[in-house]
Amino acid sequence: MAMAELSTPKTTSPFLHSSTRFRLSSKLHLSNQFRHLLLPPLPTTPNSKISCSVSQNSQAPVAVQENGLVKKKECYGVFCLTYDLKAEEETRSWKKLINIAVSGAAGMISNHLLFKLASGEVFGPDQPIALKLLGSERSIQALEGVAMELEDSLFPLLREVDIGTDPYEVFQDVEWAILIGAKPRGPGMERAGLLDINGKIFADQGKALNKVASPNVKVLVVGNPCNTNALICLKNAPNIPAKNFHALTRLDENRAKCQLALKAGVFYDKVSNMTIWGNHSTTQVPDFLNARINGLPVKEVITDHKWLEEGFTESVQKRGGLLIQKWGRSSAASTAVSIVDAIKSLVTPTPEGDWFSTGVYTDGNPYGIEEGLVFSMPCRSKGDGDYELVKDVEIDDYLRNRIAKSEAELLAEKRCVAHLTGEGVAFCDLGPVDTMLPGEV
Ligand code: LMR
Repeated sequence: MAMAELSTPKTTSPFLHSSTRFRLSSKLHLSNQFRHLLLPPLPTTPNSKISCSVSQNSQAPVAVQENGLVKKKECYGVFCLTYDLKAEEETRSWKKLINIAVSGAAGMISNHLLFKLASGEVFGPDQPIALKLLGSERSIQALEGVAMELEDSLFPLLREVDIGTDPYEVFQDVEWAILIGAKPRGPGMERAGLLDINGKIFADQGKALNKVASPNVKVLVVGNPCNTNALICLKNAPNIPAKNFHALTRLDENRAKCQLALKAGVFYDKVSNMTIWGNHSTTQVPDFLNARINGLPVKEVITDHKWLEEGFTESVQKRGGLLIQKWGRSSAASTAVSIVDAIKSLVTPTPEGDWFSTGVYTDGNPYGIEEGLVFSMPCRSKGDGDYELVKDVEIDDYLRNRIAKSEAELLAEKRCVAHLTGEGVAFCDLGPVDTMLPGEV
């Protein structure tokens, strides 16, 4: 339940030492440094088995059990304050609070993303939000650190932060779920092994969303291999429309726009209609046939067609790998930016004549892509969180052949995870170069 809707202090939690909690009826904009002067502490609960891990003088109230683990979702620090949005003059024009879950919340991508979400950059300056942060038990300390930084940022729109390790707790009533947490492929790990390990995470999270999330929750899967993880997630969430699940290919779209802009010598806002077809892997197909620069077909502006077919395509497919070579780790900031772009594309109307790319469920697609996959395609939105496929994009032989390769790869991945999608016994015949993530090259 959204804390903002409560009008009385929440006193039932056994997880927080009462001395770390304060009561605040209104004026959330009150500067933090004065709060302690005005607000009396709640009464203590001496029998509680849970104690605060920091002294009362410390800045950060941290909910832990005596064994050091946070077991359940729990509100964090200043966000445990109880308030009534409707009572505040300046917030009356705000929209109803929305709940947003982020998994892998202690990771690098989230560290960029959460502050963008909290600032209002994604959902707008009149949209209060509650962040529900899911981490692993190993990452719980870091998750508390994230929550502390969110507290210290004094974002007016951020009304509640919960942290936890159980998706059934954390996903309660969420309207958006951004699933970032996944195990990276380690040395010597077979692709089939990676699909299995991550697949189980996404099967569990799909089940949890199915049970406790808002029935129209929108789910964006970022953790790799994101297309197949999204498929597993949606198959385990039969009560949620399959159409609500997305795999993030917006990063690839952004990378493709950047490369075309560089080649054409224009700024990247001049590039539009950029489709990424297929898998977020090295078989993805950045579509230069239908993309436009300054409203003109790319092939008219960039006449080096050999570069388009080879140099451009490969540079987008392998951009993530090149970045890992430079950084020593996967892209994080640009991934977070592309998550913001992907969500904004769903909550704001698509500009006339343009579209965006996102990995969506293929049932009923007009391009002959096998049904039952999560495949990146061109989409448009009215800004209501939903989307429709763009149905009349031209596909030539070059595109058709490349798209077929990405489709075959996703079908092979799907066979590997049949045991997780309820489609029988898994049979994994992935070749050594199949399902290469952009970062694996
Ligand atoms: C990216 O595209 O940057 C990542 O998906 C790369 C990776 O494999 O982690």
